[in-house]
Amino acid sequence: MAVSKALMLIPRRTQLFAAYGRTLIVALAIAIAMLVAPRSYADSAAPETSAVGVHGMVVSESDDAAHAGVEILKHGGNAVDAALATELAVGVTNPAACGIGGGGFMLIYMAKAHHFYALDYRETAPLMARPDMYMRNGKPDEDLARDGILGVGVPGEIAGIDAALRRFGTMKFQQIAAPAEKLAADGYVASPHLAKEIEMLAPKLKLDPGLAQVFLKPDGSAHNAGDTIVAKNLAATLKGLGDNPVASFYHGEVAAALVEFMKAHGGLVSAADLANYRPDWRDPIHHRYEDYDVYAMPPPSSGGVVLEMLGALDSGHLAGLGVNSPPYLARLIEVMRQGFIDREQYADPAFVGVQIQKLLTDDNIQQLRERALHPKKSPPPAAAAHDHGTTNLLVADKDGNVVALTTTINTVFGAKMSVPALGLILNDEMDDFAVAPGVPNAYHLEGERANEVRGGKRPLSSMTPIIVTKNGAPVMTTGGSGGPTIISGVLQVTLNILAFHLDAGSAVAEPRIHEQAAPDVVIVEQAMPAATRSALEQMGYKLRVVPELGAVGAITIAPANFRGAADARKGGGAVGY
Ligand code: DON
Repeated sequence: MAVSKALMLIPRRTQLFAAYGRTLIVALAIAIAMLVAPRSYADSAAPETSAVGVHGMVVSESDDAAHAGVEILKHGGNAVDAALATELAVGVTNPAACGIGGGGFMLIYMAKAHHFYALDYRETAPLMARPDMYMRNGKPDEDLARDGILGVGVPGEIAGIDAALRRFGTMKFQQIAAPAEKLAADGYVASPHLAKEIEMLAPKLKLDPGLAQVFLKPDGSAHNAGDTIVAKNLAATLKGLGDNPVASFYHGEVAAALVEFMKAHGGLVSAADLANYRPDWRDPIHHRYEDYDVYAMPPPSSGGVVLEMLGALDSGHLAGLGVNSPPYLARLIEVMRQGFIDREQYADPAFVGVQIQKLLTDDNIQQLRERALHPKKSPPPAAAAHDHGTTNLLVADKDGNVVALTTTINTVFGAKMSVPALGLILNDEMDDFAVAPGVPNAYHLEGERANEVRGGKRPLSSMTPIIVTKNGAPVMTTGGSGGPTIISGVLQVTLNILAFHLDAGSAVAEPRIHEQAAPDVVIVEQAMPAATRSALEQMGYKLRVVPELGAVGAITIAPANFRGAADARKGGGAVGY
């Protein structure tokens, strides 16, 4: 495990104060930003995916963003300030995954109050959206929810960041936005992961002037890993948000530009949608696992599904089975399958009476365990899920505060459309609704009525940041990206730490499996040993081998000992100090 790279950063504050020194606040913000130097992926110094820290830790799917977060911690910011700075920065450096056009979920633990808070700033369906809006000639056309203007939900990102910052942060918006602004204005080095996504999507990026201008070279070819990508318009948008970003984004200049774009392209997001958007503070949900208390996001997140699965595996003497042993994996598969069947009851609680407390009762969990032990035949097969949008990040600070957040524009490059003048990439979060009952979405999750489209409703999500305490103190946090593989990935990494006592780096690195009830196939990472795979096949499981399943980060927390791991499957960085 490597020592944190943050220790090796050379501050250049003095120069910057002289150059820009108007007010202390502005200078500090710029100084923080200047510390985020673009990294080169061409040289041998690949970002560290595991790190240790004494005072705090930031784990992000972007190394630059993780460094931005740690600089905020070093300059006196708390975990919330650092998480929000990291979030804005990763929106610049992993723009195919998340950004100001998207939305997410944030789980916050504030040590002084000894209290958990859950912020839902997920996109909502525009008020003009209708359950049959994706039907064409009597048939559902799911592509309409995925690529293009009708896939776009009302963005919640900026409202969420603002709400968390005002309630728990100690800095102004421009201070936490400064690193992101610098990365966007001066350029950042494209990671191998981003380069792969640009190349994969190049034919679609070509069709959108704003995306083509930023992500393709003048000759129309894709930017490579190691190329510097500049996003000037995004930098200007972030700067223009000032210290009251909601006023501009939802009621002012940004709102006007967004609505004008929507009107010109046949989109549904209106001025009223933006003006009425509100993030929701929700009650976090909780369940015990062995001696631990596990906290998660309530619906429309799938946090409850992870808690149900963990509950069903409680007192299972998993350690005795061995990490990734065939008997352990068989139990996981059956529990995952039943958990995903229960997931069909999850949806936006403002529209559907999700019985979350009932789903988390010992009775329901006991039933899930029984169903897993005596499984019935699965639903019919379909294709398997594989995608790489979304981002998760984790922060733990010296005062004991912890933030775990997951944010997304849904599939890679969202709707594959941008508002060029704003540098804003539009989400395609509407695809997370059931476009019609039984029609699978981009992740082959079949939708039910509970998750049908309604104006103002939030679509069901797999994103599920987690924080775990023992005897009242946080001991770990995790979260991931990868559609439904977030649920299975977060479950496995949590168990790798709590049941098998692996350190964060090993817990994240262990090969993973994914089972989501339909299709009737267990997806297995190719790193899973061949003997294990064939043992599962001999048990009667149909396997599909894939290179990798999503990305999950983790931090383990002990006094003056933070161990963080980003997932090498997607790259990124763990930075401690
Ligand atoms: O909220 C959800 O469940 C999806 N929009 C997440 C998408 C995702 O993780 C994409 N993949 N990596």
